[in-house]
Amino acid sequence: MGIRDYFSKDGFRREEFVFNTIAPVYDLITMFATMKYRKAINQLRRHLPIGGASVLDVGSGTGKWAVLFKQLGATRVVGIDLSDKMLSRARVSYPDIEFYKLNAVNMSMFEDNSFDIVTASFVLHGPDRYNRNRILGEMVRVARVAVVVHDFDSRPLPFFSRLVEDIERSHYRDFQSTFMDDLRQFGYGVRKVELRSHLALYILNKRMRVG
Ligand SMILES: C[S@@+](CC[C@H](N)C(=O)[O-])C[C@H]1O[C@@H](n2cnc3c(N)ncnc32)[C@H](O)[C@@H]1O
Repeated sequence: MGIRDYFSKDGFRREEFVFNTIAPVYDLITMFATMKYRKAINQLRRHLPIGGASVLDVGSGTGKWAVLFKQLGATRVVGIDLSDKMLSRARVSYPDIEFYKLNAVNMSMFEDNSFDIVTASFVLHGPDRYNRNRILGEMVRVARVAVVVHDFDSRPLPFFSRLVEDIERSHYRDFQSTFMDDLRQFGYGVRKVELRSHLALYILNKRMRVG
């Protein structure tokens, strides 16, 4: 991969290039953000049992979100990611979690309803709406109990976050304005739990049919 991939029309090539490039410093530059992950997962526990669950973490990166499920008693945690360099770091840090290289638009290696919880943290604001919905559809298919998305809420982001997202060329604005509607299209109960710092947990409950 090279700098031309950053300008590629193929959003996944761009994502792979960006995250392979920043993998060596990713944990450092996201240190303050990941310090809030513990609080977010504690909020999640109020709505969804984690102990004893099987969990698939989509876009697991260096494993900082996935490991929290393991620490809270999830029986099996699997992470998938596009970026080899992010995966290598995750494997070294968390040898008791399985990590695979996979583009989440096609998760056919996993059967329907094969994980209790399918989650994604700071992943779905990246792709355009079309590809985001392809990934979301796969997440809903593979989840048995719930899909959990940890990401931006709809409040305007502070300058620094906007700068980072613009450099990454993510589709965060579109995510912020359309994601709740996109989640509701599946006909399951959806709950949005607002967190501090412009973040939210979006929880789709497959045990609750609506409409
Ligand atoms: C901002 S990082 C978040 C990492 C981790 N979830 C966390 O919260 O620390 C986004 C990750 O999603 C991965 N990613 C983006 N699009 C993906 C896709 N279509 N399939 C799998 N992984 C993807 C990137 O390679 C990157 O590692």
